[in-house]
Amino acid sequence: MTIDLAALPEDFLWGTATSAYQIEGAVAEDGRSPSIWDTFSHTPGKIDNGDDGDLACDHYHRWREDIGVMRQLGTNAYRLSIAWPRVMPGGDGPVNAKGLDFYDGLIDALLEAGITPSVTLYHWDLPQVLQDRGGWPVRDTAHHFASYAAVVADRLGDRVKHWTTLNEPLCSAWIGHLEGLMAPGWTDLTAAVRTSYHLLLGHGLATQAIRAAVPGAQVGIVNNLSYIEAATDRPEDVAAARRLDGHTNRWWLDPVHGRGFPADMQEVYGVELPEQPGDLETIAAPLDWLGLNYYFPSTVADDPTGQAPRVRTVRRLGVPRTAMDWEVDAAGIENLLLRLTNDYGARKIYVTENGSAYPDIVRPDGTVDDPERTGYLEQHLAACASAARQGVPLAGYFAWSLLDNFEWAYGYDKRFGLVHVDYKTQRRTVKGSGHRYADIIRAHGRKRRNAA
Ligand code: IFM
Repeated sequence: MTIDLAALPEDFLWGTATSAYQIEGAVAEDGRSPSIWDTFSHTPGKIDNGDDGDLACDHYHRWREDIGVMRQLGTNAYRLSIAWPRVMPGGDGPVNAKGLDFYDGLIDALLEAGITPSVTLYHWDLPQVLQDRGGWPVRDTAHHFASYAAVVADRLGDRVKHWTTLNEPLCSAWIGHLEGLMAPGWTDLTAAVRTSYHLLLGHGLATQAIRAAVPGAQVGIVNNLSYIEAATDRPEDVAAARRLDGHTNRWWLDPVHGRGFPADMQEVYGVELPEQPGDLETIAAPLDWLGLNYYFPSTVADDPTGQAPRVRTVRRLGVPRTAMDWEVDAAGIENLLLRLTNDYGARKIYVTENGSAYPDIVRPDGTVDDPERTGYLEQHLAACASAARQGVPLAGYFAWSLLDNFEWAYGYDKRFGLVHVDYKTQRRTVKGSGHRYADIIRAHGRKRRNAA
């Protein structure tokens, strides 16, 4: 498959992404306190196979080796998240020096390896102590988040310029508080809406804190958006698609762009927002870039008796699917990149996650051949390049994920890595898709050199 690499800028960031709870392990080491994910994963029945993140990829001890793997791939950027309970085990202070030291050393080593760190402050691992005090449905949590952001920015900001406040707040709010399938496992619409509000408030406050601590900071938010189509032309299905668009896309994009929370969705939820004067301005702090996480598109129909947003997903026949049962359709990423540019005026966009899970097999010679993941990668990169060719200001792509890791409620069975992890031995093996990614990165470098 041809990828129009010449459409991508010279200083394009070619990265991989991970998150703290999914790879670090060492959950009780060096002063880290439990997060809501420790609690959730140790609650019987919540995670497939009874898996948990206690050891994960043992990255806390193997990070030097993992940077070596990044060098093998030839990536020039790495998106990681900081574990709030490592840095502030009490949620709102005091600071745990050992926790910060870990990230400090990691950042230095990345920079030495020529890899630009892109740091996410919240990838779902709220300290359990704050959950015990009410969690995200409570306003104070947004302020605690900003205090924690200030501490991290103050320590790492001399070297880290790329900052993400929140990763996929949709998952924390809707999946964690409405569907109950992620931590903290609630099914309460009011709590979910309040959570969504306080997450975005926390985003705005943290943005201010980062900017105050880091000259030249590039701050963004990362959303997992979906390309949505109605299953039929029936007005009910068209309205359902519009509702899902509100729930998944507009609810998260509009407020940070100064458009407030979508009125149609406020009506759908019927929950009063915990708004205080000045909040909307805080939430709409201008951003340096937008992060898009894209995995699959959605086709939906009306579900009048379902819970908000009252839609049901319709399976499209003949469309390939990953091991997550997610449709493979790269047109969605191109469409969303164009929408962020044309409808929201994005000046800089990163694809902060994109990837696929398949059941990999290690061959007797120790190699892992994963043609489906390789195909997914190529198709989505081609779509990104096509979007860039049409004027989308795409500045980087981060493959999800560097390593196979703890895939939340699915445990370790679902493998997204460009690098295979043998969980018994912790051996890392670059898969075929990882080698292909390295080839693509090299080819982009060659094009750049030839053009110079
Ligand atoms: O593993 C997750 C990640 O933590 C957030 N985005 C989606 C990935 C795949 O489900």
